[in-house]
Amino acid sequence: MTQNTSIGIIGSGAMGAGIAQVAAMAGHKVVLYDNNTTALDKAKKSLAATLQKLQDKGKIASADEVQQRFSFADKTGSFADCGLIIEAIIEKLEVKKAVFSDIEKVVSADCILASNTSSLSITSIAAACNKPERVMGLHFFNPAPVMALVEIIPAIQTAPGLIPGAKELMLQWGKTPVIAKDTPGFIVNRVARPFYGEAIRILEEGIADIPTIDWAMTEIGGFRMGPFTLMDYIGHDVNYVVTETVFQSFFYDPRYKPSFSQKRLLEAGWLGRKSGKGFYNYAEGTTMPDPTKDLVLGTRIFERILAMLINEAVDALYLGVASVNDLETAMTKGVNYPKGLLQWCNEWGVDKCLEKLDSLYHEYHEDRYRASTLLRKQAVGNKKFV
Ligand code: NAI
Repeated sequence: MTQNTSIGIIGSGAMGAGIAQVAAMAGHKVVLYDNNTTALDKAKKSLAATLQKLQDKGKIASADEVQQRFSFADKTGSFADCGLIIEAIIEKLEVKKAVFSDIEKVVSADCILASNTSSLSITSIAAACNKPERVMGLHFFNPAPVMALVEIIPAIQTAPGLIPGAKELMLQWGKTPVIAKDTPGFIVNRVARPFYGEAIRILEEGIADIPTIDWAMTEIGGFRMGPFTLMDYIGHDVNYVVTETVFQSFFYDPRYKPSFSQKRLLEAGWLGRKSGKGFYNYAEGTTMPDPTKDLVLGTRIFERILAMLINEAVDALYLGVASVNDLETAMTKGVNYPKGLLQWCNEWGVDKCLEKLDSLYHEYHEDRYRASTLLRKQAVGNKKFV
């Protein structure tokens, strides 16, 4: 794939429009397709406004020049000349499968088909195609023009020869690609689960309140946002659904168990910032509650969540989901963690991290707190992850 390759995008929502912008700014002709003309119109207007802003700020030379690379379509026929199609429609397997099967009828024989799904199996999407070997996952993060990370996910059917080209293309687009095995949540949405789940568990157990847990993770842990602030920001409709999908896809492994606290927020329509209320209340005039700045309590909270995060990263390494480098890159570029979790484990001490998990396991007798076999192996002689 080169700059001359035309890119087709299916779905002109938040992700599709963002990916389209990235591709056009990298010099490609882009066909943006949506089956909803209102959504397409909205994307057209917002892309024009964004490009104008970028020109005003001096980030691009000419908004018009980039604008001319776009065509907007409400029919898939316009994909005939594309070399790569990226799908970013609603997160429903049956709908995605139907779209991939239809698209295959209009694209050229060597056109590559990619899905931006966050949580569905690329292998099952590929299975809907006559040529499943041309299908892969290209998982961008929100907002796509800003977030550097792209997870490239080969399905088990994907022709291995396609992956270096995809990696090269993402580099040309100014992105940081990592390769992830086609397993639930890929890298980021798997490894990050305890950041949310363990924080909620600590809250439900009454160990600390919401602002105190957020304070511990930002002030002691150095994370940009506390888990509750972040969940409210992402929206519980998105964050809870990813947790539930990952849990189900892992055959109900208790490590990924969703919480009633978050489910109730979703049921109440308290989706977070966008609805004015979530774990926090964002109504005007409301004062945010203060944390209890107790260093001993804060450290206990931070170390518990960190140990669970490290365990996920180590287990993902153990099970071949990604390399050490890609795991570290994914968590620092995809969710802006202050450092890679394996490096954090090295610095903290593999033995200390294991001790923390084992003490949780002994306290609760729950499989949720089982340490990864690799962590246990590394702890013998305190070997570092490299
Ligand atoms: P969105 O709801 O903003 O946009 C989806 C668009 O797809 C809508 O404009 C809709 O009209 C269109 N659409 C739905 N069915 C269609 C069909 N059959 N044919 C053509 N167009 C169709 O959704 P969003 O947030 O952009 O997500 C899209 C995909 O990207 C999902 O798979 C999601 O899991 C994934 N994703 C979302 C992220 C996020 O933070 N929003 C992050 C990374 C991935």
